[in-house]
Amino acid sequence: MRKRLTTRFTERFGIEHPIALAPMDKVAGGRLAAAVSAAGGLGLIGGGYGEATWLDQAISEAGNQRVGVGFITWSVAQQPDVIEAALARAPAGLMVSFGDAEDIVAAAKAADVPTLWQIQRLSQAEQALRAGVDVLVVQGQEAGGHGMDRGLTALLPAARDLAGPEQIILAAGGIADGRGLAATLMLGADGVMMGTRFWATTEADGTAAAKAALVATGGDDTVRSKVFDIARGVDWPWHFTGRIVANNFLNRWHGNIDGLKDEAAAQQAIYEASDPDDFSTRVLIAGEALDLVVSIETARDIIEATVSETHALLSKSSRFLAS
Ligand SMILES: Cc1cc2nc3c(=O)[nH]c(=O)nc-3n(C[C@H](O)[C@H](O)[C@H](O)COP(=O)(O)O)c2cc1C
Repeated sequence: MRKRLTTRFTERFGIEHPIALAPMDKVAGGRLAAAVSAAGGLGLIGGGYGEATWLDQAISEAGNQRVGVGFITWSVAQQPDVIEAALARAPAGLMVSFGDAEDIVAAAKAADVPTLWQIQRLSQAEQALRAGVDVLVVQGQEAGGHGMDRGLTALLPAARDLAGPEQIILAAGGIADGRGLAATLMLGADGVMMGTRFWATTEADGTAAAKAALVATGGDDTVRSKVFDIARGVDWPWHFTGRIVANNFLNRWHGNIDGLKDEAAAQQAIYEASDPDDFSTRVLIAGEALDLVVSIETARDIIEATVSETHALLSKSSRFLAS
């Protein structure tokens, strides 16, 4: 019999497994989001900075599968028409990360679309809860991509204490298998959001070279930095850094951010002129979970293995109880 887990998250979204796809910019397209939903999770398209035509295409690519969409808040907040267009497609959920999202949550509520808000600090959790968000996504610094500096192990139970027993919470950052899911359920989550693990799938957007690089590297190779935001000319708020795989370009500038800013135009030109698959210059965004990524799999295989491993771990957990 196929193993199942039930949590407030699966019940609220009417899904089989407490696993969500992180809405990864340039990686979580319609194909991957649909594959995650088809396998019983919650697929979220990476709406990124808010490119309307790309988003339209990704939602169409997902076909009849019920998928949601996630945006980088500070960027999309300047483009209310993109939010409106996404809500008009009646997504399974609207996720926001990185910035003040009260107005977006209110618009989603008015459209009857469930909301997810990814936070990195308890003060941000308070803000999201005040806005009445449906799902609080608690992101630890282990995560691939943008985030902040707090580890998940203390932040997650503290977010649970703050939010109370009924709030739906997902854990994000460093989770790639059933051990991560079982552990975060114990720390107070109702499920997980995985990015790095789903990046290394057959369905993820991205080249074979990028996926091979994910398999070839590990968590020790990653670092949080602002180098690639400057190299790509993206104006991220100062308190967010991005976890990426270190490379020659990073190593040259990581300890000299002011020098990079002084030379920003020239370095952006070098970056843009490089081959998109040359990962000695180009950024490969991924998190500490790379240690656990040893092959490219399908989204379904990852979800089924994660659920069945979690089930086995939880079933055996009574062995720790002394009589
Ligand atoms: C390649 C990549 C791109 C990402 N892009 C986004 C994004 O556009 N918006 C967002 O909210 N989070 C983004 N994230 C962060 C995820 O939402 C999530 O917090 C993270 O993937 C969870 O940690 P993990 O990578 O260890 O699973 C990205 C992560 C990765 C790995």
